[in-house]
Amino acid sequence: MSVKTLLINRTSLEGQVQVPGDKSISHRAVMFGSIANGITTIENFLPGEDCLSTISCFRQLGVDIVQNGSDVTVVGSGTEGLHQPEDTLYVGNSGTTIRLMMGILSGLSFTSTLEGDESIAKRPMTRVTLPLGKMGASIIGRNNGEFTPLTVEDQKLHGITYELPVASAQVKSAILLAGLQAEGETNVIEPVKTRDHTERMIKQFGGEFVREGDTVRITGGQILKGTHINVPGDISSAAFFLVAAAIVPGSDIILRNVGLNPTRTGIIDVLKAMGADLVIEPYDSESAEPAGDIRIKYSKLKGIIVEGDLIPRLIDEIPVIALLATQAQGNTVIKDASELKVKETNRIDTVVNELKKLGANIEATDDGMIIHGQQSLDGGTVSAHGDHRIGMMLSIAALLCKKDVRLEQSEAVAVSYPGFFDDLYSLVGK
Ligand code: S3P
Repeated sequence: MSVKTLLINRTSLEGQVQVPGDKSISHRAVMFGSIANGITTIENFLPGEDCLSTISCFRQLGVDIVQNGSDVTVVGSGTEGLHQPEDTLYVGNSGTTIRLMMGILSGLSFTSTLEGDESIAKRPMTRVTLPLGKMGASIIGRNNGEFTPLTVEDQKLHGITYELPVASAQVKSAILLAGLQAEGETNVIEPVKTRDHTERMIKQFGGEFVREGDTVRITGGQILKGTHINVPGDISSAAFFLVAAAIVPGSDIILRNVGLNPTRTGIIDVLKAMGADLVIEPYDSESAEPAGDIRIKYSKLKGIIVEGDLIPRLIDEIPVIALLATQAQGNTVIKDASELKVKETNRIDTVVNELKKLGANIEATDDGMIIHGQQSLDGGTVSAHGDHRIGMMLSIAALLCKKDVRLEQSEAVAVSYPGFFDDLYSLVGK
């Protein structure tokens, strides 16, 4: 376990950073490249542990993938080109890898088993095994398919119409990936619109889908063609520095090439509603995923309510939004976010417990949290609990603490942002 002592108290942030490639898009680029025909080249791929797990699983399935930092080449031969792996497919900490791969594997003509780390072993999988079962898939796991290890057997799939009980892009994507191999039409109905990277990527690989209101429809048997994917920077990684600059007096930074897909920009809406001083310069390009530069400066903030349809647009940013709220005047209430309980950790509990250790005035609720601002933070020993976003949020909190912060399990940040500490130190001039 790595322990970091963060001695960066109260230093303002200046300069610019290009955050690494988007995690959700990097996973999907490797997956689509592996099931398409022909060569896919990926630029600005995120070489974080989660996305490397996706690469290693597809290599186990026989796909030729060359990765050199953030440049990746995938040689796809369609789903028929995938072969039965010799060993269990190991997904590490990655929920996106395991859930989306179940959608792909369930239509293939061989049996394979998926497994991950301790956190993955606790995360619910019935949300995926149930709809895939309705499509004809056979997936066996602990507790009737709720938990890993999960064995996906050889079955033929047929299209279904499925209303998602929870707003989840991972579940939607697993069903769409299975639907691409199923006979007939598959309809997924979303209660609230979630990130649409899978749909955009179907188009980039030459496939088709239809969106009608809250329904996404695809037809099975489509042939996908390898392509070039340019991955924008991850707004979920940028969020840590956006918040840092907004709360540390004197800060003024620019984040370059940040993905601005509207299904992901809830953090921008929250910062603006709280009164943050930020300007977005969108790139004028035709690319499938919008991106741009964001300049943000320190400013006085006020508490707000974060709820409803906004939640899926910022679900991964809630830990750092909780920190942001400790520095706003008045209360911030986060509601409708019980999904946080089934992330890499129970993020309601870990956020509340770890921020309390630093002196924050914050309470857990059944579906979110209430943060009382403005609160000065003290310091002490905290833990990432193996959760990358908790580790990065606590490192940003250290910027405001009066005393040193000792961060246990700091290595967790490498799941989505291996260069996080280098970029943080460059912005604070250390
Ligand atoms: C993701 C979807 C979200 C998000 C996760 C990545 C994706 O999960 O929290 O980090 O790439 O589709 P859910 O679909 O479970 O909400």
